[in-house]
Amino acid sequence: MGLSGDLAATREFFSPRAAGWEDRHPDDDVLFSWAVEQLGLCPGDVAVDAGCGSGRALAPLRAAVGPRGAVLGVDATPAMLAEAARLGRQPISACLLGDVGRLPVRDGSVAGILAAGLLPHLPDPVGALREMARAARNGARLGVFHPIGRRALAARHKARGARARDMNIDPRRIGPLLAQGGWTLERLDDADDHYLALAVRDG
Ligand SMILES: C[S@@+](CC[C@H](N)C(=O)[O-])C[C@H]1O[C@@H](n2cnc3c(N)ncnc32)[C@H](O)[C@@H]1O
Repeated sequence: MGLSGDLAATREFFSPRAAGWEDRHPDDDVLFSWAVEQLGLCPGDVAVDAGCGSGRALAPLRAAVGPRGAVLGVDATPAMLAEAARLGRQPISACLLGDVGRLPVRDGSVAGILAAGLLPHLPDPVGALREMARAARNGARLGVFHPIGRRALAARHKARGARARDMNIDPRRIGPLLAQGGWTLERLDDADDHYLALAVRDG
């Protein structure tokens, strides 16, 4: 089966930006660790980094679930996964090439999902959220996260010519979007320096 037009466009945009991805924003690590903490993961849990890119969240996710847990990173852009490999992220996690709309995990098996920088790049956010809900166990948390404020992110997308759907994280839209995807919004931080919509799977 061929790659959908949307995923092909995603690859086209991210491939030339993959090398040195984290060098552009080296101070974001603290916010990533904080975002992972909000998922409330426990040792032995299964965690997913949806749209993991170069894998910046993988180390904090591994620290949260410990050696008995499992960490899975999924990304649609091979160059991003190559960057994750170059940065030595593979020994701490499984990094797979794939679409977050089709996660390679059993129903109800995942305790926490981080979706960092992902939602504006999804043409069908509800479909992807539903797939994450399928994978999530009851009580699992999802963090829709950006290590930058929403307005600054939209300006960055514009400057880079990204085909981003910034309305997907609009504060008026994110709650209903999550609800359609099977998640209940618990908390929304729409701050100047970060964005976190924290949701729980309770159905
Ligand atoms: C802005 S980057 C964020 C990467 C990483 N999470 C971070 O915060 O550094 C968005 C990532 O989402 C990936 N992506 C976009 N759509 C995807 C999809 N449908 N399935 C899997 N990955 C996707 C892109 O390839 C890209 O690596």
